[in-house]
Amino acid sequence: MIIKKAEYIISGTKASHIPDLKVPEFVFMGRSNVGKSSLLNAITNRKNLAYTSSKPGKTITLNFYNVNDAILLVDVPGYGYAMRLVQDRLNYGKMIEDYLEKSKYLKTCFLVVDSRHEPTEDDVLMYNFLKHSNQNVVVIATKIDKISKNELNKNISIIRKKLQMQSTELLIPVSSEKKIGIDKVHSYIETFLN
Ligand code: GTP
Ligand code: MG
Repeated sequence: MIIKKAEYIISGTKASHIPDLKVPEFVFMGRSNVGKSSLLNAITNRKNLAYTSSKPGKTITLNFYNVNDAILLVDVPGYGYAMRLVQDRLNYGKMIEDYLEKSKYLKTCFLVVDSRHEPTEDDVLMYNFLKHSNQNVVVIATKIDKISKNELNKNISIIRKKLQMQSTELLIPVSSEKKIGIDKVHSYIETFLN
């Protein structure tokens, strides 16, 4: 996929804030600090389109990005970090549920996990929630530049097992830093374009 245009459109916390571009939409979900915003930058081939930080909790709203006037990418705040309080958990849940229900052009939820770690209970909950909401879910395991090939293979099995993924379900290992696997994400997204 050639990125001719990648621009920030708007931030929001409600479904009513979703831009009405009528193009296929893809959302990035996952725990704080796993690398969702970095992945969005790697996919759009921009360094600082989405703000990243070594501290968790950088992204706090739904952020919408227009790519090539052909797709909409949505960066979502990470769960875990901002959800220690019951109230935060409920608000976060509502925001995501509201968004999923109303986003008519959503094609796939990318569940982003850290390739170095076993998925947490929050990851399992989110994966199951997305599946039960009848979403297309693709798991992306990030930061693979930080581990060896052997470790990666071992960890991929652990991730698949913990999330109880079917063998037909897609898991894409990536490194946003070293630009590994980004072409696979591009190819996947392209299957939704005409
Ligand atoms: P929140 O917005 O807090 O939910 O975090 P996020 O998931 O958007 O994470 P972000 O992209 O801000 O990245 C978190 C940290 O991980 C940053 O310090 C990134 O530089 C680092 N990081 C992200 N992806 C990679 C990767 O592929 N390899 C390496 N080595 N570091 C990465
Ligand atoms: Mg972020």
